[in-house]
Amino acid sequence: MKVFISRKIPEPGLQYLREAGIDISEWVTKRELTSEELIDHCKKADAFLSAGSNRIDKTFLEAVSHLKVISLHSAGYDNVDVPAATALKIPIGNTPGVLSDATADVAFLLILATSRKAFYMHKTIQQGSWGFFEPTANLGVDIRGKTLGIFGLGKIGFELAKRCAAAFNMKIIYHNRGHHAEAEKELHAIRVSFQELLESSDILSVNTSLTPETKGKFNKDVFSCMKRTSIFINAARGGIHNENDLTGALENGIIWGAGLDVTNPEPMRPDHPLLFMPNVCVLPHIGSATEETRAAMSLIAAKNVVAGLRGERLPFVVNPLVYA
Ligand code: DGY
Repeated sequence: MKVFISRKIPEPGLQYLREAGIDISEWVTKRELTSEELIDHCKKADAFLSAGSNRIDKTFLEAVSHLKVISLHSAGYDNVDVPAATALKIPIGNTPGVLSDATADVAFLLILATSRKAFYMHKTIQQGSWGFFEPTANLGVDIRGKTLGIFGLGKIGFELAKRCAAAFNMKIIYHNRGHHAEAEKELHAIRVSFQELLESSDILSVNTSLTPETKGKFNKDVFSCMKRTSIFINAARGGIHNENDLTGALENGIIWGAGLDVTNPEPMRPDHPLLFMPNVCVLPHIGSATEETRAAMSLIAAKNVVAGLRGERLPFVVNPLVYA
């Protein structure tokens, strides 16, 4: 049995595959595979371990419908046409849970860094502009005691809320379809309407998945309902905000700042105006990028591959309907 892996993944995952007797074919070239190359490689394999944002659409799935499993090296699966995979009876695996802490850490980092203009201030030193002390220059805003609003409070949002409540005594509000009982009990989080989330949040953090419903949700109209002093954080998926509208909202003082670990598109162009604003911090999608987290993700992804090749139910399956 053979697995094709579309990027170099951490050793624990590879070791698990080797010990299970699986042949490994890895794409280690430092460029994206074309869709034709991806299909060619997958045609020669029984399983596909997808690391990166390979487009797993209907055309691709139909071309490789012999695959026994597609295992994602990510929690998010917005790059996959899940109904098409289900119709073709291809189980899709993902790696939820293990990256919640690391991703919440990055959202927390962006809140702090943005509120104190940290990335921009660092750049001014590199540019030789660290001048004399001015009591009114380069001021950020305090976050202690402010209101954190979470759009989509799940595992990552809960971890972020815990950090903000513990470290900065922040009040937590959230907008979800249902209640998050644990957050309400442990953090006195309050579920609010979307409109109230926009109007009451000092920091508004997006922690939901990219779906047809959330795509482009944070647009001009939405930003205009937020406080002029607010900070927008997105460590989920860039597609959830409209980047031109976000840029406009910041340029026109509609909101105060933004911290992004995800952009739309990725990579962001190096001359993008957001990269030059003092009150904006941008990171290149590093939410899960720690040694420990990526090792844990690789192991889960490998376990999904092995289970799929053995005809067993995947430990973490995105489309359980394949087993119906
Ligand atoms: C995930 O796993 O979904 C992270 O955002 C990395 O893509």
